[in-house]
Amino acid sequence: MGSASMLAAVAMRRLEGKVALITGGASGIGECTARLFSQHGAKVVIADIQDDLGHSVSKSITDSSSSSSSSSSATYIHCDVTKEKDIENAVDTAVSKYGKLDIMFNNAGIVGVNKTSILENHKSEFEEVINVNLIGVFLGTKHAARVTVPARRGSIISTASVCGCIGGVASHAYTSSKHAVVGLTRNTAVELGRFGIRVNCVSPYVVATPLAKDFFRLDDEGVHGVYSNLKGAKLEPQDVAEAALYLASDQSKYVSGYNLVVDGGFTITNPGFTVFGK
Ligand SMILES: NC(=O)c1ccc[n+]([C@@H]2O[C@H](COP(=O)([O-])OP(=O)(O)OC[C@H]3O[C@@H](n4cnc5c(N)ncnc54)[C@H](O)[C@@H]3O)[C@@H](O)[C@H]2O)c1
Repeated sequence: MGSASMLAAVAMRRLEGKVALITGGASGIGECTARLFSQHGAKVVIADIQDDLGHSVSKSITDSSSSSSSSSSATYIHCDVTKEKDIENAVDTAVSKYGKLDIMFNNAGIVGVNKTSILENHKSEFEEVINVNLIGVFLGTKHAARVTVPARRGSIISTASVCGCIGGVASHAYTSSKHAVVGLTRNTAVELGRFGIRVNCVSPYVVATPLAKDFFRLDDEGVHGVYSNLKGAKLEPQDVAEAALYLASDQSKYVSGYNLVVDGGFTITNPGFTVFGK
C-alpha cells in the first residue's frame, strides 16, 4: 500500500482508540464483527464459551492487525453470558487490559430446540433460550453500564432479530427472547441516555451462520433461498457487522433506542398481499 492510500485507510478507521467487548465473538456474526471492529482500530475482547475457536479468532485478529501498541489487538475470555460472574469478569478484563470499555456488543445467542408446537415445548427448553438470549443481554448491559456510566460515554449494542419484529419465523422461546431484547434496548436507552450512553440493537434476517443452518437445516444456498424481499443481494455476516459498526461509531452519535433492522425489507411487507406481485 502506498503512503497516500495508507493515510486514507487510517483516516477511515472509525473506532480508533476504542475498546469493544463482543459476546458470541468466536463464530458467525460476532466473529465477523470482531474482525471489522479491529480493522477500524478498536481493541477487541472476544467473550464466548467456544474456547478453542475464540482463542484462534483472537490470535488471527492480533496477527493481522497493524497496531503498533504493545498490547495485543484482541483477547479471548471464556464467558458464559448466563453467569453474572463471567460477564462481570469479561467487562473487568476489558478495563484492566485496555483501560476502559467503549462498546459492548451483546451478541451471543442460541436458537434452542427446533420444536414448533407449544404443547411439545418443555419449560426447561424455553428457559434455556431466554437465559442466553435475554438474561445474557440484561447482564451484559448491566455490567457495561457499571463501567460506562462513570465515564459518561459508551455504546451498547445487542443482536435481536427479525423475530423481534414479527411472529412465526422461529420458536416461541426465540421469538419471545428477541422481542424482549428490543424492549430492554428501549428501556435501557431511556435510563442510560441521561449519562450519555447510547443503547441500540441490530435485527438481522436469516444469515448463513452455524446457528441459522442448524435451525433451518439448510446449507448456505438454502439459507439464501429462504423468502427474501430484496432480490439480487445476499445477507452476509459482514452486512450485520457493518450495521453494528455504525451503531458503535461516532457516526451514530445521536442514535439511541433504535432497532436497526437488516432484512432487505422482509418485515415491512406481506408477500401474500402486495400490489406489486411476486
Ligand atoms: N444467523 C441468523 O440467521 C440470525 C438472524 C437473526 C439474529 N441472529 C442472532 O445473531 C446472534 C449471533 O448468532 P450467529 O448467527 O452468529 O450464530 P453462531 O452460532 O455462529 O454464533 C453464536 C455464538 O454465541 C456463542 N454462545 C452461545 N451460547 C453462549 C453463552 N451462553 N455464552 C457465551 N456465548 C455463547 C456461541 O458459542 C457462538 O460462538 C445471535 O444472538 C442470534 O440469535 C442470527
